[in-house]
Amino acid sequence: MLRSKIAGIGMYVPKNIVTNQDLTQYMDTSDEWIQERTGIKQRRYADRTGETTTTMGVEAAKIAIERAGITAQEIDFIVFATLSPDYYFPGCGVLVQRALKLKEIGALDIRNQCSGFVYALSVADQFIKTGMYKNILVIGSEKHSFGLDFSTRGRNVAVIFGDGAGAVVLQPTQDPNQGILSTHLHSDGESAEILAMYNPGTHANHWGNYAAFKEAPLGDQFMSHEMIDNAQNFPFMDGPAVFKKAVVKFPEVIQEALRANGYQPGDINLLIPHQANLRIAQFVQQQLKLSDQQVYNNIQQYGNTTAASVPIALCEAWEKGKIKKGDLVCLAAFGSGFTWASALLKW
Ligand code: UT7
Repeated sequence: MLRSKIAGIGMYVPKNIVTNQDLTQYMDTSDEWIQERTGIKQRRYADRTGETTTTMGVEAAKIAIERAGITAQEIDFIVFATLSPDYYFPGCGVLVQRALKLKEIGALDIRNQCSGFVYALSVADQFIKTGMYKNILVIGSEKHSFGLDFSTRGRNVAVIFGDGAGAVVLQPTQDPNQGILSTHLHSDGESAEILAMYNPGTHANHWGNYAAFKEAPLGDQFMSHEMIDNAQNFPFMDGPAVFKKAVVKFPEVIQEALRANGYQPGDINLLIPHQANLRIAQFVQQQLKLSDQQVYNNIQQYGNTTAASVPIALCEAWEKGKIKKGDLVCLAAFGSGFTWASALLKW
């Protein structure tokens, strides 16, 4: 049976390290609060002279392509996951096609936030399994630092997020002991507004005031001075509500992947959870009775990089020798939407 395997993996994080202490110059927060509530010690921010979601993704992609032992010209499809694209449209996929001087191949953009990379991997997996493509570049990249509210008003969101990118090249394999065994995708749109960036958007709601919306000049309904004055161009998050749902859905979707393939939590060699909050990952670890060696976390160094967090953690774990050929690796993510997903693979 044809499966897809990760043939090459790469990551890129900006050089600029921002510590918790650094953030105290912008907002009322502390190293103690951030570490205690999230586990984060520092994160990276893109430089201000041209580093973008796409350029970071391209750097990660170059490494993944080289490690796959192919040339960029052999890539036959791109899947790019991000919530912080260079442009509202077009998506980052075509910008990667241009930057890497690829052939006129298809480029697909995925908008599933923290679950974005696992969703992207699943989409690419289907294309490989049907035999349609042979070398798919899958990228997760985020540049959060340009779109956060760095005043005390936005501190519950701003301290969590960081910038970075991860990428893999997926290829077909006939090896029964290697490759993606299954992927599992879920959503529950009931809570879409709990973790969201509402603007710019086409929702017919002028801050809950429909009358004002009807009065607003046409163009202003999309992005107005008033929205910016009211900081409504920043992401919103009800952190505790997200936390409560995450600690239920993470174990659920991991168990689903294990059950689908006849495995138990004890069989996992390495779990790579989306790096949302160290407390969430620790809760999931406890629930599944996994040892410290079975779970990889690096949120302490990079913060939450949303669609980039899973490929960055996977790449770093692999570079550190924590993943060996034949290992059972589980990827799992949960976030805005809500969407959640898992992938079980044999390395
Ligand atoms: O990856 C995408 C999915 N996102 C997540 O999975 C995030 C899930 N949620 C979380 O990680 C946590 O809810 C947060 C880290 C966002 C917040 O931690 P919390 O323990 O849930 O805190 P809280 O929001 O309940 O706030 C507790 C207090 C509040 O003050 P009062 O009302 O008790 O006086 C906040 O104003 O902490 C305050 N606070 C802060 N204080 C210092 C919120 N943010 C900060 C901050 N520094 N950065």
